[in-house]
Amino acid sequence: MRRPSSTSPYYCCLLLLLSFFSVKTGAFSIHNHSNHNCNSNDLGALYGFSRSLDTQIHEWPVAITNPTNCCSWPGVHCALFSTYPTSSSSSFDSSLVSNARVVGLDLPGKGLEGVLSPSLSGLDKLSFLNLSLNSFRGPIPPELFDLKLLAVIDLSNNHLSGEMPPGIGNLSSLSLLDISNNRFTGMIPDVFHGLQKLEGFSAESIGFVGRLPTSLSSCSMLTSLDLRNNSLNGSIDLDFGRLLRLTVLNLGWNRLHGLIPESHSSCKALQILNLNRNNLSGLVPQKLRNLRFLSFLALEQNNLSNISNALAVLQGCHNLTVLSLTQSFRNEQMPTNGIRGFGSLRALSMANCGFKGSMPLWLRKCRELRAINLAWNHFSGEIPSWFGGFDHLFVMDLSNNSFYGEIPISLMQLRS
Ligand SMILES: *[C@@H]1O[C@H](CO)[C@@H](O)[C@H](O)[C@H]1NC(C)=O
Ligand SMILES: *[C@@H]1O[C@H](CO)[C@@H](O)[C@H](O)[C@H]1NC(C)=O
Ligand SMILES: *[C@@H]1O[C@H](CO)[C@@H](O)[C@H](O)[C@H]1NC(C)=O
Ligand SMILES: *[C@@H]1O[C@H](CO)[C@@H](O)[C@H](O)[C@H]1NC(C)=O
Ligand SMILES: *[C@@H]1O[C@H](CO)[C@@H](O)[C@H](O)[C@H]1NC(C)=O
Ligand SMILES: *[C@@H]1O[C@H](CO)[C@@H](O)[C@H](O)[C@H]1NC(C)=O
Ligand SMILES: *[C@@H]1O[C@H](CO)[C@@H](O)[C@H](O)[C@H]1NC(C)=O
Ligand SMILES: *[C@@H]1O[C@H](CO)[C@@H](O)[C@H](O)[C@H]1NC(C)=O
Ligand SMILES: *[C@@H]1O[C@H](CO)[C@@H](O)[C@H](O)[C@H]1NC(C)=O
Ligand SMILES: *[C@@H]1O[C@H](CO)[C@@H](O)[C@H](O)[C@H]1NC(C)=O
Repeated sequence: MRRPSSTSPYYCCLLLLLSFFSVKTGAFSIHNHSNHNCNSNDLGALYGFSRSLDTQIHEWPVAITNPTNCCSWPGVHCALFSTYPTSSSSSFDSSLVSNARVVGLDLPGKGLEGVLSPSLSGLDKLSFLNLSLNSFRGPIPPELFDLKLLAVIDLSNNHLSGEMPPGIGNLSSLSLLDISNNRFTGMIPDVFHGLQKLEGFSAESIGFVGRLPTSLSSCSMLTSLDLRNNSLNGSIDLDFGRLLRLTVLNLGWNRLHGLIPESHSSCKALQILNLNRNNLSGLVPQKLRNLRFLSFLALEQNNLSNISNALAVLQGCHNLTVLSLTQSFRNEQMPTNGIRGFGSLRALSMANCGFKGSMPLWLRKCRELRAINLAWNHFSGEIPSWFGGFDHLFVMDLSNNSFYGEIPISLMQLRS
């Protein structure tokens, strides 16, 4: 699956959630404890959920058999909630004092097929839902968004379809939403105003159309936004001045046009910025040089201009490790001086840009380079001997240029 980078924050969040529950309730994950049979609403909701599947969930009962404790079913997590006996309850009943309720449903990659049952909305204490990597199809039942305590929703890598219900905007506790790799249609509803706790939103490879939802600007806790590989159009008009915690922004493979917003520079923590394969034009904004933590920048296949300006700006990003400019900045002259070089750069791709000029002298200062691709340009002149001096280089493509002369002996000695 293509989501390795998102795994650790989610686990981290799960751990946080678990510790949250153990602090709040003094107990978590009660496994068939005789005193705490699960709540009958929860039992009915889980039964409804499993009944709407074409497949069976391993070790879940096929019918409600009494007494049964759903807290011991695989993937079901419970927590104790204290309720005070009301005056109307005449007799002492321990279940009134301390109720085991379902707070987590964690069934990723279980080969589940079928539709998502609206009966899930019966799990009214649910805060963690992970059904990723299954074969759920059909729409998300709007009832799911009645679950006001939901903090984590991971429905990624299924076959869910239909429009994204606007009710998602009512989940004010939501901190993580991952709906990537499904088949939703239409626009991303612009309903994020109330999601003040949202830290991660991932909706890659879905086919969403229309504009970026501007209400995402209200999510001031957002650290990761991944909307890669949709058909989003319009300009990038999020107010990045309010997204100060953003570390990952991936808007690559869309149809965004207009300028790279200068306000990106407000996101001082930004580490990964991917704007590949859009139709962005204009200059790389001066202020991007303030992004001290930026380590990955991809601007491939856009319509940007002035490579001299771009390099002058980006050399201010001292932690830049991967830079890809392939198929941007068409047919420009590569500057020979005025660029200091990129001391942290490990991978540089500037292929198929139609660049003119000689081997850029500033490359000499990029001592950490592992991979370089300058193919399909109009570079000319001799390959300088210093080009053999990269200690770590192991991938190099200079093909389809007009370099001449001998390949430096040192290039033959590249460690592989
Ligand atoms: C859901 O489960 C998958 C598979 O175990 C995991 O990779 C992913 O991080 C989980 N999502 C969340 C939000 O914990
Ligand atoms: C929980 O119940 C299962 C059967 O439903 C049993 O095999 C297991 O031993 C029980 N665990 C505990 C800790 O009682
Ligand atoms: C959000 O919740 C309010 C009240 O809880 C409800 O009236 C409204 O219809 C909900 N919005 C959506 C889009 O579900
Ligand atoms: C992009 O998304 C489409 C579905 O909309 C999917 O079929 C395709 O494999 C994705 N491509 C990449 C490179 O992720
Ligand atoms: C953006 O996409 C929507 C939906 O496909 C379309 O109606 C609209 O005309 C597009 N706008 C631009 C500027 O391309
Ligand atoms: C890209 O944007 C320019 C305007 O900046 C427009 O003329 C051109 O048609 C667009 N190209 C694509 C492929 O959308
Ligand atoms: C630079 O990046 C490396 C690894 O990506 C990281 O360990 C280091 O803390 C970063 N330093 C700064 C100043 O961003
Ligand atoms: C690039 O942008 C210019 C205007 O800035 C436009 O005329 C041209 O069509 C664009 N090229 C592409 C390939 O979109
Ligand atoms: C490119 O930008 C630099 C400033 O960084 C400016 O001096 C130069 O004139 C620009 N070149 C073109 C062709 O616009
Ligand atoms: C060389 O690069 C040009 C673009 O600069 C491309 O059109 C051409 O097909 C390439 N030739 C070969 C043999 O790869």
